[in-house]
Amino acid sequence: MRICIKNAAGFVNAEALKQLESQTEAANLLLENGQGAGNDFIGWVHLPSSITDAFLEEVQACADELRKRCEVVIVAGIGGSYLGARAVNEALASAFDAFVAKDRKNPYVVYAGNNIGEDYLAELMEFISDKQFGIINISKSGTTTETALAFRLLKTQLEKQVGKEEARHRIVAVTDRAKGALRSLATKEGYKTFVIPDNVGGRFSVLTPVGLLPIAVAGGNIREIVRGAQEMEKATDVSVPFAQNLACQYAAIRNALYQSGKKIEILVNFNPKLHFFSEWWKQLYGESEGKENKGIFPASVDFTTDLHSMGQWIQEGERSIFETVISIEKASKTVLVPTDAENLDGLNFLAGKRVDEVNKMAELGTQLAHVDGGVPNIHISFEKLDEFNIGQFIYFFERGCGISGYVLGVNPFNQPGVEAYKKNMFALLNKPGYEAESAAINARLNK
Ligand code: PA5
Repeated sequence: MRICIKNAAGFVNAEALKQLESQTEAANLLLENGQGAGNDFIGWVHLPSSITDAFLEEVQACADELRKRCEVVIVAGIGGSYLGARAVNEALASAFDAFVAKDRKNPYVVYAGNNIGEDYLAELMEFISDKQFGIINISKSGTTTETALAFRLLKTQLEKQVGKEEARHRIVAVTDRAKGALRSLATKEGYKTFVIPDNVGGRFSVLTPVGLLPIAVAGGNIREIVRGAQEMEKATDVSVPFAQNLACQYAAIRNALYQSGKKIEILVNFNPKLHFFSEWWKQLYGESEGKENKGIFPASVDFTTDLHSMGQWIQEGERSIFETVISIEKASKTVLVPTDAENLDGLNFLAGKRVDEVNKMAELGTQLAHVDGGVPNIHISFEKLDEFNIGQFIYFFERGCGISGYVLGVNPFNQPGVEAYKKNMFALLNKPGYEAESAAINARLNK
């Protein structure tokens, strides 16, 4: 993995950037010695190096059992309890995996519990009505409404389709060690369970069973993901000086840009398989940094697709943005542009070239245009889109996020703002215990 900040450094005050070198190193030290805010949620820092073979075998064995019994596995979870797994699964699978019906090696993995769309749930329930399916229900708190609601519906349907005993073998719960409704339910029903460690928050949990189990079910090599993350844990360790420490460099330049008035970071990819990585990254950075009226707003685009929608704004809109480009150095497959005798489309100048070469020139051309247009550019490149590199990618962004949050001066590991909508929703739905809030909200709405 490489990071290049030369097209961003020119947009910031050199002195401020220099100061951020030591600030990011100090922040990295806080992660290491556990003396920063939210220090009861930094279990992810040394998580990769603490993963044992026996643990990976247990996750793989559970995944194999689900793969044996099910054509469809539904991953029920929201936010940090699903985005990481989805990001990895969509990056590794064929773009058309959902349409491949014959000779499948892997079950279909689909997602629920991440919205409250009645049509979505109805369509999912119809889709699985003639299928052998299973459920991985993921919720650290065990009480998240979106996930619990989807699980209630899916569990009921599964028990109806295959009976309670078989359903018990097809449901796995990933939750807190002891607390929460999901833990109690799993104990009562006798489901296989995995624990989300107390000191790992949802958005930092992809390298726990929250991410690893659904990835293994989908056919991903979880050992390689963990190996990549372990390498990156070493490479971003507090003992690695700033000049070599990619996470400190990323945190320093994005904070320098923020201080110079660039309030929006757009994560850019040139590979549609990375779309859900951007969704994962947005949650990681948005929930970690957006508090106390501070924080870079994390946005994302898929290029070249979005050059035809957001390209105009990025090139010439308000100059409050910077881009972080995720570039995959080598495409995994080869497609050459054919020659055409008539050349009616005028594309013979590309004949014989790989499609990836065209894509790379689009990437470079876009970078030059956007930098000329006043958009600083951070460039992060990975050799190829495989499990090892994905593991590196995940840990790099986690570490960069922890460091950035401390440099910004917030607790990157809480999310107090997420509760506001829940309180109102429960009051509006007359949830027991919310009587006072219901009265207040009704008075407000009837004014
Ligand atoms: O990062 C977080 O902590 C959140 O996004 C949670 O993952 C999300 O709200 C789901 O919570 P839970 O796993 O408790 O259902």
